[in-house]
Amino acid sequence: MKQFVTHSLIIRTQPLPSIKKILYNRSTSNKNKMHKQTDYLIIGSGIAGLATAYYLKDQGKVTVLTKGAARNANTYWAQGGVAAVMDKNDNFENHIKDTLEVGQGLCDPAAVRQVVFGAPKAVRSLESLGLKVQPQPLLEAGHSHARVWRSSDFTGRDILNVLLKAVQKEKSIEIIEKTEAVELIEVKGKCVGVFTRQANSDKADLEILEAKYTILATGGLGQLFGHTSNTIGSGGDGLALAVNAGLELQDIEFVQFHPTGLAVQKEGRHFLISETLRGEGAKIVNNRGEAFLSRFHPKAELAPRDLVSRAVFIEEMTGPIYLDATHLPANKLKTTFPNIYQTLKGYDIDMTTQKIPVTPVAHYSCGGVPVDQKGATALPGLYAVGEVARTGLHGANRLASNSLLESLVYAKIVAESLEKTKTMDVDSSVDMSKVEIPSVPIEDIDQIKAYAGRIGKIMWENVGILRTEASLEKAKQEIVSIPARDYRIQHRQLVAYKIILACQARPQSLGTHYMTSDIV
Ligand code: SIN
Repeated sequence: MKQFVTHSLIIRTQPLPSIKKILYNRSTSNKNKMHKQTDYLIIGSGIAGLATAYYLKDQGKVTVLTKGAARNANTYWAQGGVAAVMDKNDNFENHIKDTLEVGQGLCDPAAVRQVVFGAPKAVRSLESLGLKVQPQPLLEAGHSHARVWRSSDFTGRDILNVLLKAVQKEKSIEIIEKTEAVELIEVKGKCVGVFTRQANSDKADLEILEAKYTILATGGLGQLFGHTSNTIGSGGDGLALAVNAGLELQDIEFVQFHPTGLAVQKEGRHFLISETLRGEGAKIVNNRGEAFLSRFHPKAELAPRDLVSRAVFIEEMTGPIYLDATHLPANKLKTTFPNIYQTLKGYDIDMTTQKIPVTPVAHYSCGGVPVDQKGATALPGLYAVGEVARTGLHGANRLASNSLLESLVYAKIVAESLEKTKTMDVDSSVDMSKVEIPSVPIEDIDQIKAYAGRIGKIMWENVGILRTEASLEKAKQEIVSIPARDYRIQHRQLVAYKIILACQARPQSLGTHYMTSDIV
């Protein structure tokens, strides 16, 4: 297996008894063996998964596996837009510089260049699929130029809709919903598919989904933290699959927190109030009405996201925090942010006349499964695209609206790379009849929710915006002591544990990873 070593840390699986404990007990059987086959298996149906499926459509049979309904992906809630240099007053070097600066020395410059140069084409290809991109881009924190291209204030949802429509038209693409990926299947050092299980059933029976190539597009891990913008399914599944297949993770201590989640939790997540509102002039104020961010950074509302999140988190200790857009023209707010306006109305908040109560939330994983410039992981046959992957674009902190962009650019790169690989011999000696199917313990859904809540509380309180040596150690002990038997919780424990190890391996603060000795 090849390893990618760069100047940032790779978190190695340590042979600790605790890590052994949190790998579920495998008992194997070959009873009722179900076996499906495909050429390209994509796990996840967000922007990364659907875009990869679309680009692979002429190359063979493509199967998209998703544990919920296809449109339940986190992408649905992505607001900002797609960062791209498409304005004559801007240039690629500016976008590269902004990305590198926000990434604080840990970006891979080659990945940054590849993504930035691929950005205009990525936006144009969405337009060709029917996305109506607005003529003027907006500004977000960390950008030296307005270059965030949107279709609306729910750009993620709009992108998901056009991609889903495009993919559903293709005969070569099948979407299998409500089916979980439980474990990658490895034969002779190559990934040859995944063991699957019908989601939310009480059956432990697994099936084989064999694939020539498997692409992880499982998204993020925000749900490991008690407060997050991420949908309920974003618990780092793909990272657990990769680790259980022997892969290392990289840069996962860099969990990006967004400063302005709505301070009310609903359906396990916090609705996000987009940074583009601050780009348009909205202010973050404390309960005395003071716009306090200039005390923390000269760029105030448009300072890098990690800094704003920390400032809000610290100021919140003195009372509630608000995003105030009431000084902006009401009409402009309603036309530029129609969905945010309407959603807030559902919470009885009129953002044209009332301040919006906000709080920081876990938002994005800057690290993940290391991939090379072609999106390939160190395990032959396995690729990773989108938030689950660590491409080196983000380093220690992600520039706003570089994430939808990264998914689009790498989806194309992976498809093109697989097109070239297609002619290579796929090992025909792989005998799937010899593959033994693990049986996994299943626990009651209320018990699973209780365990997930416990992980969220431990991670939020100890591995959140401010971390200490003591809080990390406490979290590690508590995470491994959760007596879960169900693989869904054990996957979460495993990823949480890996994040904590990554934090402990980096005693100095950097980017989104902030160590302090003041707060325990
Ligand atoms: C936002 O609109 O504030 C979020 C965009 C992003 O996460 O890049």
